[in-house]
Amino acid sequence: MAKPVDLVIFGASGDLTQRKILPSLGRLVAREGQTVRVIGAGRSPKTTADFREEVKQTGGNQKLSETADWVHLNYTDPQTFAPLKEMLAGSSTVIFYLATPPETFSDIVAALALCGLAKKADPTRRIVVEKPFGHNLASAHKLNAELAGAFEEEQIFRIDHYLAKDTVQNVMALRFSNSLFEPVWNRTLIETILITVAEEEGIGKRAGYYDQSGAVRDIIQNHMLQLLALITMEPPTTFDPEYVRRAKRAALRAMSPIDPGMAVRGQYEGYLDESGVEPDSRRETYAAMRVSIDNWRWDGVPIFLRTGKALARRVTEVVIKLRDAPMLRIAGRRQRGIPTLIVIRIQPDEGISLRIGAKRPGTKFEMVPAGMRLDYARLSKASLPDAYENVLSEVLAGGHSAFPGAEEIELSWEIVDPLIRAWEAEGHPELYSKGSWGPRAADDLVADGGGGRWIVSGDEPGTA
Ligand code: BG6
Repeated sequence: MAKPVDLVIFGASGDLTQRKILPSLGRLVAREGQTVRVIGAGRSPKTTADFREEVKQTGGNQKLSETADWVHLNYTDPQTFAPLKEMLAGSSTVIFYLATPPETFSDIVAALALCGLAKKADPTRRIVVEKPFGHNLASAHKLNAELAGAFEEEQIFRIDHYLAKDTVQNVMALRFSNSLFEPVWNRTLIETILITVAEEEGIGKRAGYYDQSGAVRDIIQNHMLQLLALITMEPPTTFDPEYVRRAKRAALRAMSPIDPGMAVRGQYEGYLDESGVEPDSRRETYAAMRVSIDNWRWDGVPIFLRTGKALARRVTEVVIKLRDAPMLRIAGRRQRGIPTLIVIRIQPDEGISLRIGAKRPGTKFEMVPAGMRLDYARLSKASLPDAYENVLSEVLAGGHSAFPGAEEIELSWEIVDPLIRAWEAEGHPELYSKGSWGPRAADDLVADGGGGRWIVSGDEPGTA
């Protein structure tokens, strides 16, 4: 039986704790039977009874709520951490989870170190840091240095919940456990890669964060570059986290910083009316860009990324488009080429589709696009776990496969920083209608850049 764990959540009254952490934790402990004591730590002067009630409501787990505790502290005053230290005396494993606004991270880490709670190099003391991890390269570097002052790398877990999605982890299984794919996975046979992370929702009530960040910081720097690294990295020596991280680092290192001339930004109509948004905000809610990976495998293959809020529908997909087969001529008539597509459907309709050309049934020899599909949910009777359940399960077990390392994060900032700087110096972005696929210019970016057009499954014959 796993040892009991004390999970100290800083920012436990916040939205993330209520919406994601506690519900996922409740499901996880119900499923796996692990003993976890939740300690809420925050600036609000609430009572343990209040917090237990919150844990009961949002965590939906009796045992979790009965053992929960609340400790009131001031992040900037290490002396206020004394009651927490007392509470943790004798604990076997302690996880500090920073679910607070990023400007508090430094103070909390410093206070944990100062009052002796951090215990450098002790694997039973772990720290989890929520995104955003920095605002640019310099701030990410500073935060990494502060964390490294108090904890060893193995004790640090930086959240990128995309990495904890089953379908994202499945990218490695697809690529490296099927000899069918690896030989084609390169510049010789792949014409282009298109990745879409589209959301139907606008920014909701998150203007305070989003209006300072925008689409590049929110999605591209972390989720999309991590996904792209998994898609394009060399086969790791083993699947152990350190080797996977090494392979991802090498892929990210081969990416050039994004050229602002190869990128398109947009803002949805009505964004300025969202509550909390600056009246003249120039923040992008949509970003599309061409990236390239300058190594032997990918040289000359154009790669396109796009993400946005308030788009036509919620879909995250990677489309790998293979080069056309040589022409097929029948009775003097050239048949239309049907490029093979490998579509990795990350969400919401999780799975993999392969679009191929087939002969239309009948007496004539005619080609039609045809699809083969794997529906991921069908591989198991259990429903797919939420990414946060996977995140917490990994942290409780001390595993790192769902977390990016320090260097990967800094490399990602190096790739996006010049674009962010260029855009912050520009005027207002082009507006796009809610429910559309974003600015027209993003279509030209792909067409002119050798990618053809944006593809999402369902809209493309043979991928439904
Ligand atoms: C978060 C972003 O990291 O990811 C949000 O801050 C975004 O803006 C969310 O909505 C998307 O996550 P998912 O799992 O719903 O695709």
